[in-house]
Amino acid sequence: MMGLTIRKAGIYPLVGTLVLLCGCSTHSGSPTPAKTSSVANTPSASTPAKETPTAEATPTAEAEAAPSKAAPSPSTSRSPDLTSPDSLTALVNKTHPLSPETYAPVDLVPFGGVYLRQEAAQAAEEMFAAASAEGIGITTLSGYRSYETQVGTYNSWVATYGQEQADVASARPGYSEHQTGLALDIGTGGACDLQVCFKDTDAARWAAAHAHEYGFVLRYPWWQHETTGYWYESWHFRYVGREEAAVFHRSGAPTLEDFWGVAP
Ligand code: DAL
Ligand code: ZN
Repeated sequence: MMGLTIRKAGIYPLVGTLVLLCGCSTHSGSPTPAKTSSVANTPSASTPAKETPTAEATPTAEAEAAPSKAAPSPSTSRSPDLTSPDSLTALVNKTHPLSPETYAPVDLVPFGGVYLRQEAAQAAEEMFAAASAEGIGITTLSGYRSYETQVGTYNSWVATYGQEQADVASARPGYSEHQTGLALDIGTGGACDLQVCFKDTDAARWAAAHAHEYGFVLRYPWWQHETTGYWYESWHFRYVGREEAAVFHRSGAPTLEDFWGVAP
């Protein structure tokens, strides 16, 4: 698997286009591979059109104020299972694929038009209800995506934007958190869905502030691409369980890689 090639210096001439790309989809992968449509998970008609690059996609004081990499060490009394594919704390990134790479969870349930593992779906339902009670509507855009779906998704990104740009927006098959059934892309049904401007919506702000209360973590924060391997995705949340998310939140660690003490 390729290593991370993103560097802070020199990347942001590309940001105007790259951060507007999402390796996600407005559709979920069916839990039944035979029914999976690779067409439904492409950066074409089903994906919002690229925005014109704006000032918000350029480095700003916000970037310079990004959290330090020197995150508190995780508690030594904790030993989350980072390797079992069924673990709620399974680490999945560019250097930690699912094993086997064709893994599929067995407890997927429907939620908001997508599929999630049962515990994540229950938590998401509670999270959406809490947001709704505060007058904030959140919709689901993508949940579980099968290995086969991700093949189509990734290949479409490569075909459309080239491999280098695809690799900072879309995970390769076997390397996507969406394949765990624990990742959820949220939206509002508006024009900013899966776009950089989603970060300024009430839904994104609410989720960033409260997701940890329901066991979810913002997985690809702003300016953490050197660690995560992906551009900022203000819509992609990963379920790790309430206790793990609470400890993560209290730790101040910017990413799960920092929190779990694994190399970027
Ligand atoms: N967009 C994220 C990185 C994925 O494809 O899993
Ligand atoms: Zn996602």
